[in-house]
Order: sequence, then structure tokens, then C-alpha cells
Amino acid sequence: MIVLLVTCLAALLCPTVHSADASVDFTTWPKITPQYCNGSKQSPINIVTASVQGNPNLTSFNFTGFDDNSTFRDIKNRRIRLDDEKMTVQGGDLPGLYNTIQFHLHWGNGSSSPGSEHTVDGKQYPMELHIVNVHSKYNRNVSVALAANDSTALAVLGFFIEGTNEANKTKGWISLTSLLSSIPNSGNTKTDIMNQTTLNSLIEGVDRTKYYRYQGSLTIPSCNEAVIWTVFKEPVKVSHDLINRFSTTVFFKDASASVLNTNNFRGVQPLNGRVVTSQVVQTAATPAASSAATSTLSVITVLLLSSLCWL
Ligand SMILES: *[C@@H]1O[C@H](CO)[C@@H](O)[C@H](O)[C@H]1NC(C)=O
Ligand SMILES: *[C@@H]1O[C@H](CO)[C@@H](O)[C@H](O)[C@H]1NC(C)=O
Ligand SMILES: *[C@@H]1O[C@H](CO)[C@@H](O)[C@H](O)[C@H]1NC(C)=O
Ligand SMILES: *[C@@H]1O[C@H](CO)[C@@H](O)[C@H](O)[C@H]1NC(C)=O
Ligand SMILES: *[C@@H]1O[C@H](CO)[C@@H](O)[C@H](O)[C@H]1NC(C)=O
Ligand SMILES: *[C@@H]1O[C@H](CO)[C@@H](O)[C@H](O)[C@H]1NC(C)=O
Ligand SMILES: *[C@@H]1O[C@H](CO)[C@@H](O)[C@H](O)[C@H]1NC(C)=O
Ligand SMILES: *[C@@H]1O[C@H](CO)[C@@H](O)[C@H](O)[C@H]1NC(C)=O
Ligand SMILES: *[C@@H]1O[C@H](CO)[C@@H](O)[C@H](O)[C@H]1NC(C)=O
Ligand SMILES: [Zn+2]
Repeated sequence: MIVLLVTCLAALLCPTVHSADASVDFTTWPKITPQYCNGSKQSPINIVTASVQGNPNLTSFNFTGFDDNSTFRDIKNRRIRLDDEKMTVQGGDLPGLYNTIQFHLHWGNGSSSPGSEHTVDGKQYPMELHIVNVHSKYNRNVSVALAANDSTALAVLGFFIEGTNEANKTKGWISLTSLLSSIPNSGNTKTDIMNQTTLNSLIEGVDRTKYYRYQGSLTIPSCNEAVIWTVFKEPVKVSHDLINRFSTTVFFKDASASVLNTNNFRGVQPLNGRVVTSQVVQTAATPAASSAATSTLSVITVLLLSSLCWL
């Protein structure tokens, strides 16, 4: 209860002092004809938790094929193509059924130099996993979906990756990282990656009923504003060692050019009036008796926090 109180007070009292894009390196992003990249509903964004609005429509999802180990088709660069006939997502206030076509990752430069695309109150995570889904009315054809000028054409599920010291925390990640050495050069494609792991094993441990929702875009050119974004609150815990393998194994172009693929994330974009929503916060039941000691402590906490904010 005290923890909750302190958190609430901190949010209330402390002015937002972080700089969301302080750690973002815009210069590494390729300069390609922007097309839609200068639009007003771009991704990623910094999620300001104090401004998130409750939305009771954000129910749980139904995932199909996420526990099937025969769905990974091939891996190329940062992207794994999936068997989109076997895999679907629905629910979670998405307008219909979506086919799951691929997932890919964004990273920085090892677990100590973060590379997630979305940030939460300015915090950038080491990596971010994106599961890309296309509305079933487009028959699994992304080009057709993007040509439709439909803001709900794609639904991307974003998962933050956080480092942990517990070795082999998420076993799916051992299978995934073991594939990296077979695709060191951009353009290399590795097939026959079936029967090793499942998508569920890569997002193990995350409460999938707790997420943020907003309307945005692809984070790579041509930046089409065609994405319903879902960003899960809880990160996936992956050992530092496995996280470090991404930025030390995969190269831009080819290994002989010796340019490692690092910092492959886009910086946060302006909200331009967009609202981020989330599940309605369930307030804890009021305790039967609030002791005087607690009240006194609260007052002290308020005073303490007020002064801390200005340090
Ligand atoms: C965005 O960029 C495109 C391509 O450069 C240009 O045609 C368009 O007018 C720009 N839109 C705005 C709102 O600046
Ligand atoms: C929830 O869904 C209902 C029915 O579709 C809609 O009228 C309402 O505006 C939605 N609420 C929010 C907060 O989006
Ligand atoms: C999700 O699956 C459950 C159980 O199969 C079903 O009752 C529910 O209607 C489904 N929800 C959606 C949105 O598909
Ligand atoms: C990434 O980190 C390594 C080791 O710390 C360093 O040598 C390298 O210069 C860094 N690369 C970039 C692009 O920052
Ligand atoms: C997607 O649709 C376009 C246009 O109809 C077609 O040219 C293309 O081959 C389709 N792609 C796939 C993967 O089916
Ligand atoms: C796309 O849709 C938006 C809003 O629905 C509209 O303003 C715009 O003109 C459309 N663009 C094209 C190329 O159809
Ligand atoms: C972690 O997994 C690797 C590869 O499967 C294995 O060699 C190693 O012994 C495991 N380490 C621990 C602490 O379980
Ligand atoms: C995967 O397992 C299925 C069923 O056991 C088998 O038919 C298929 O050949 C296997 N594929 C690979 C690439 O190992
Ligand atoms: C893949 O799934 C099949 C069917 O559920 C199972 O028999 C097999 O042991 C699984 N393979 C691995 C490597 O987990
Ligand atoms: Zn992405």
C-alpha cells in the first residue's frame, strides 16, 4: 500500500524532467525517401504513464499457433517469417482476425546500450520484439494491406526485452540466438528452422492482459500510418549474454565489411495529440482501518517527495 502511495505521489508531484530522446541516435537511421515518415501519427513513441487513459474495451487476446513449434519458416537479417496460415491473433479490441506473418527485433549495442523503439516514461529497454499481424481481409498480403490506406491494416504486438542475470531464463531465446551465426550477413536466409521453438516460448512470463494501445505507423520507411500498436507492459526477461549476441553476431551488408548491425531502432516521434490507452486500473479494496501511523508516514512521505523532486 505504501509502495502504491509513493508511486502515485511521485507521479503527481514530480514534474516530468526526463528527456525522452536523450539516448536515441537519429543519425544511424537510413535516409530513405520519407513518403509517410513526416506524418502526424508516427511510431515509436514515448509512453507517458501519467497520461495513459483507461479503456475497458482492451480485453484479452486469443492467440492461435503460438504454441506450435512448426511455424518458423526462415530467418533473414532481424526477421523470422512465420506460417501465417497457422498463426492468428484476435480479441484485445482489434477489429477482427489478424494473420501473424513475421516477427523481428530491434536492439542497441549490447545489454548496456539499449535499443528498444518505444520508451516508457523515458526508459529505453535493451531490445524490443515486434510481432507483425495483417488483417485477415487482406489474405496475408502486406503490400495489398498497405496500399489500402487503412489505419487498421496491421496490428503489431511489441514486447520489451530486459536483461537478467539468471542464466537461460527464457529457453526459446537460446534456440533463437543459436540461429544468428547462420545469418551473419544481411541477405543470408536460413531455412529449416522448424521444430525448434515456439513464439510463446519467446514471450514467456509476460502477462498478456496488461498492455498499452495507440494508433501509429511502421517504424521503417515507408512509415505507413496503418498500425494498431499494442505494447505490453511487462518485459520478457532474457539473460544479458543472449542479448549481447545480437549486437556482436549480425552484420550490416557482409561480415568482411565488419560493420556490426547495432542500434537498429528509430527514435521516438511526437504524439501530436494522440492518446495512449490501457486497461482500466483496478483500485485495491480500501483497507478496513487506516492506522494513524500510516497517515503520519504518508505526510512524511509527501514532504520527503516534494523536496526530492527539486533535487
Ligand atoms: C511528406 O513528404 C512527402 C515526400 O517527401 C511530401 O510529398 C509531402 O508533401 C510531405 N508532407 C508533409 C505534411 O510535409
Ligand atoms: C468501447 O467500445 C464501444 C463499442 O464499440 C464504443 O462505443 C466505445 O467508444 C469504446 N470505448 C473506448 C474507450 O474506446
Ligand atoms: C477467445 O477464445 C475464447 C475461448 O475459445 C472464446 O470464448 C472467445 O469468444 C474468443 N474471443 C475472441 C475475441 O475471439
Ligand atoms: C558497441 O560496443 C562495442 C563494445 O563496447 C564498441 O567497441 C563499439 O564501438 C560500439 N558500437 C557502436 C556502434 O556504438
Ligand atoms: C500481393 O498482391 C500483389 C498485388 O495483387 C501481388 O502482385 C503479389 O504477388 C501478392 N503477394 C503475395 C505474397 O501473394
Ligand atoms: C487516406 O485516408 C485519409 C484519412 O482517411 C485521407 O485523408 C487520405 O486522403 C487518404 N489518402 C489516400 C492516398 O487515399
Ligand atoms: C544454458 O544453456 C546452454 C545451452 O543449452 C547450456 O550449455 C548451459 O549449460 C546452460 N546453463 C545453465 C546455467 O543452465
Ligand atoms: C518438423 O517436424 C515435422 C513433423 O514431425 C516433420 O514432418 C518435418 O520434416 C520437420 N521439419 C524440419 C525442418 O525438421
Ligand atoms: C514439437 O512439437 C511436437 C508436437 O507437439 C512434439 O512432438 C515435439 O517434441 C516438439 N519438438 C520440440 C523440439 O519441442
Ligand atoms: Zn519493428
